Amino acid sequence: MEKTIALIPGDGIGPDVVNEAVKVLDSVAKKFGHRFEYRAVVAGGTAIDKFGDPLPQSQLDLCLKADSVLLGAVGGPKWDNPDSAFRPEDALLGLRKGLKVFANLRPAVIFPQLKKACPLKEEIIGDGLDILIVRELTGGIYFGKHFLSDEGDWASDEEKYSRKEIERIVKLAFEAALLRNKKVTLVDKANILTSSRLWRKVAAELSKAYPSVELNYLYVDNAAMQLVRNPGQFDVIVTSNMFGDILSDEASQITGSIGMLPSASIGDGSGPGLYEPIHGSAPDISGKNLANPLATILSAAMLLRYDFKMEDEALCIEKAVNLVLDEGWRTADIAGDLEAVKREGKLIGTKEMGDLVSQIINN
Ligand code: IPM
Ligand code: MG
Repeated sequence: MEKTIALIPGDGIGPDVVNEAVKVLDSVAKKFGHRFEYRAVVAGGTAIDKFGDPLPQSQLDLCLKADSVLLGAVGGPKWDNPDSAFRPEDALLGLRKGLKVFANLRPAVIFPQLKKACPLKEEIIGDGLDILIVRELTGGIYFGKHFLSDEGDWASDEEKYSRKEIERIVKLAFEAALLRNKKVTLVDKANILTSSRLWRKVAAELSKAYPSVELNYLYVDNAAMQLVRNPGQFDVIVTSNMFGDILSDEASQITGSIGMLPSASIGDGSGPGLYEPIHGSAPDISGKNLANPLATILSAAMLLRYDFKMEDEALCIEKAVNLVLDEGWRTADIAGDLEAVKREGKLIGTKEMGDLVSQIINN
């Protein structure tokens, strides 16, 4: 198959990790007889420097024309001035809205090889963790009306959800649960928010079409607590844009390695999806061959699975990553006992990690 992929290296370690994902994608293409063509897209802080705009229309158009989009990370202290008109993060919101990717899938999985990195007690984490957070991505308070009064003495941000917006994301969560452990937890603040009560109503209605899936509800404060008290109770969590933002960071910390977690942002399937690691741009380590590229490599696997329907190819990447971990190779962030890993000669950098995964796929 021939496919085009828009590549947004972005800022900080973005280019470091995207390079390695491309290496791996090229190995997959060779092995399975595909042709992936890449289109470079500039977005984020780099685009503010180059165009004075974090996401010029020309760059969004490049993404819209591609079959899929892979992003590294955006942002950094250089663009943190609170008085500036633009922030690199605006590029993310613009991409999400522009590509209409309303569903953000964030799997939080503990790799058995990295179990020691989990900060929770053994009796709490049990056999591990395998949660899928389905976060609504193009609505809610992120996109509601933001208002600052003329005098600057009051401000407001609106949380607004339509039935249609809720239906499509909750449906997606039910479908995902069918392929997993058949449990959906809707996380909201229905004891306070009217919008949350609409989420509950819609979810209850939709659940009738999924009799084999158990639906339950949790208030977000309780959910935050349950995630560290008894994470094994969760299978699929579906929630609004902001609650999903917060809970997915919490869940990633339970896995002990934010450098391992990929994400997929998908829409109704008529356009490209957006794939990115959930970590940020880590400017302090950029260009130093220190970043862990595995989250981006695993995001590339999700890209193949969801946008190109290449399940075997996706599995091939995931297996290769597991093998590299089985063999003990570690970047610093997942080393655990850094000195011991060093002694064994298994401490490696960004490029070596990408090379190892590629080599396994090539062989
Ligand atoms: C994320 C990030 C973004 C978000 C920021 C950088 C705008 O935290 O992808 O989770 O809040 O969505
Ligand atoms: Mg976040």
